[in-house]
Amino acid sequence: MNVEKIPATEGPYNLKNYDETYANFDWADVEKQFSWYETGKVNMVYEAIDRHLATDRKDKIALMYSNATRDETYTFAQLSELSNKFGNVLRNLGIVKGDRVFVFMPRSPELYVSVLGTIKVGAIVGPLFEAFMEAAVRDRLENSEAVAIVTTPALLPRIPVNDLPALKHVIVVGAEEELKEGHIRFEKAMEEASTELEIEWVDREDGMILHYTSGSTGKPKGVLHVHNAMIQHYQTGKWILDLQEDDIYWCTADPGWVTGTSYGIFSPWLNGATIVVRGGRFTPEDWYKVIEKNKVSIWFSAPTTFRMFMGAGDELVKQFDLSSLRHVLSVGEPLNPEVVHWGMRVFNQRIHDNWWMTETGAQLISNYRCMAIKPGSMGKPFPGIYAAIIDDRGNELPPNRMGNLAIRTGWPAMMRQIWNNPAKYEEYFSIPGWYVSGDSAYKDEEGYFWFQGRIDDVINTSGERVGPFEVESKLVEHPAVAEAGVIGKPDPVRGEIIKAFIALRAGYEPSEALMEEIRKFVKEGLAAHAAPREIEFRDKLPKTRSGKIMRRVLKAWELGLPTGDLSTMED
Ligand code: WTA
Repeated sequence: MNVEKIPATEGPYNLKNYDETYANFDWADVEKQFSWYETGKVNMVYEAIDRHLATDRKDKIALMYSNATRDETYTFAQLSELSNKFGNVLRNLGIVKGDRVFVFMPRSPELYVSVLGTIKVGAIVGPLFEAFMEAAVRDRLENSEAVAIVTTPALLPRIPVNDLPALKHVIVVGAEEELKEGHIRFEKAMEEASTELEIEWVDREDGMILHYTSGSTGKPKGVLHVHNAMIQHYQTGKWILDLQEDDIYWCTADPGWVTGTSYGIFSPWLNGATIVVRGGRFTPEDWYKVIEKNKVSIWFSAPTTFRMFMGAGDELVKQFDLSSLRHVLSVGEPLNPEVVHWGMRVFNQRIHDNWWMTETGAQLISNYRCMAIKPGSMGKPFPGIYAAIIDDRGNELPPNRMGNLAIRTGWPAMMRQIWNNPAKYEEYFSIPGWYVSGDSAYKDEEGYFWFQGRIDDVINTSGERVGPFEVESKLVEHPAVAEAGVIGKPDPVRGEIIKAFIALRAGYEPSEALMEEIRKFVKEGLAAHAAPREIEFRDKLPKTRSGKIMRRVLKAWELGLPTGDLSTMED
């Protein structure tokens, strides 16, 4: 194959020679970078924040935050103190190691302080997107039996407190009005809390963060990560993000998504980097302003963002001074070669694609600065990671053959549990010795991996994973809907859009107005990003004999492809 290559960037960079490093790497060497290697006392937040206080980084800016009305900076010393305070707020409420504490609010310094404080006392933090509506919030709090939640007045009505017996404490940030009986005012509790905290020392295998993610069937899965993930967060931050002392790093992901914590919090702070956080909704123009104003040098975003920028035109870019940028990265869905070319043209920067999943906890396959990029390829496995393309029995396939993208089991940041669902966890390891990702891909002769698609039918819309089942469940709650089947339909801007096939109940007729009403119903009942952009009414949906909607058949209809094996289809 004759594939285009964009040559390695000129150094300096942290990872100097990929092949040599890959051949000689040992995770055990990375452990020596942590203070627990000497002291035996483990806590992610100690390593990410407090440890720096004994160094020149003490008064270095850790967080640059801005939204429409705020513009603030926080040093490592300040974050240490604030997270101590929040840790004490939780301890004063009786929260102990292993308890689940959720954060449900827009990006703000308070969100970051809450995440850090929760982990400092050994509790497990569960970050939720602010876009979640009541049903989505309920599922997650119920499944995890969360004991506390930190939120804002605007989001409070979406927390069904009375239906959640385990939920004892609601902490409200930025309340202007009187709070309801029993609710706690964040600011007041923080003011009263001591700045001195005894960090909860934990085991490396103790739970730290719970990210809910969607599968193709069933409710969202609570993916549990442990403190040990720091080993990989640290090293990928060095070699993939290429974090160096003077960098200003901006990861645009929300902490409700694994990228917004692994690479929006842990990885950069473990490396002592300054991070930029922008709150609120914003336009491409605002984004460029953030890069210019904060002199962002490393920018980590997603294909959907880059495609939106491309759409905004090259002229816009020229109005800003983006010369501070030295490294750009992308994750979440396939990065189109077209976007890589655009990056070269407008920023003179290669966009470094990398592949991983909520379940994997950290990056596993990536493009590195010291390595040539093949636009459209996700790159090569991180040192210490063995990735392969296997068939359904676990045999490795030769180059250029498409199959299951799988990883040899056991890496520092791998999930340790699906909360309350051991059977679901086991499904990932159905082929002995392998973690089976559910993605299909191939590897070329030079060891570059090329993504092909999801093997199951999880939808990836604008970088967000949406489980069809969750949307279908919401749809059938609507009085007019008898049955619903939801698929991802390829879309040039969003990767995929959500399309719903709906069979109506007797007495209802298809109409534009009904379509709009159903869309609104999902938007308000589940989440805006989960609402189907397209709806098609059908008399009947293809189902298996056991009553499962056959989404692959819907998809085949949609794409005009052969429907494949229909033996399990009812009549
Ligand atoms: C997809 C995101 C193509 C893939 C960190 C994976 C990608 C799922 C890429 C995980 C990439 C992620 N190229 N597809 N570079 N990165 N994906 O859990 O299907 O939100 O299985 O984690 O996104 O999505 P998740």
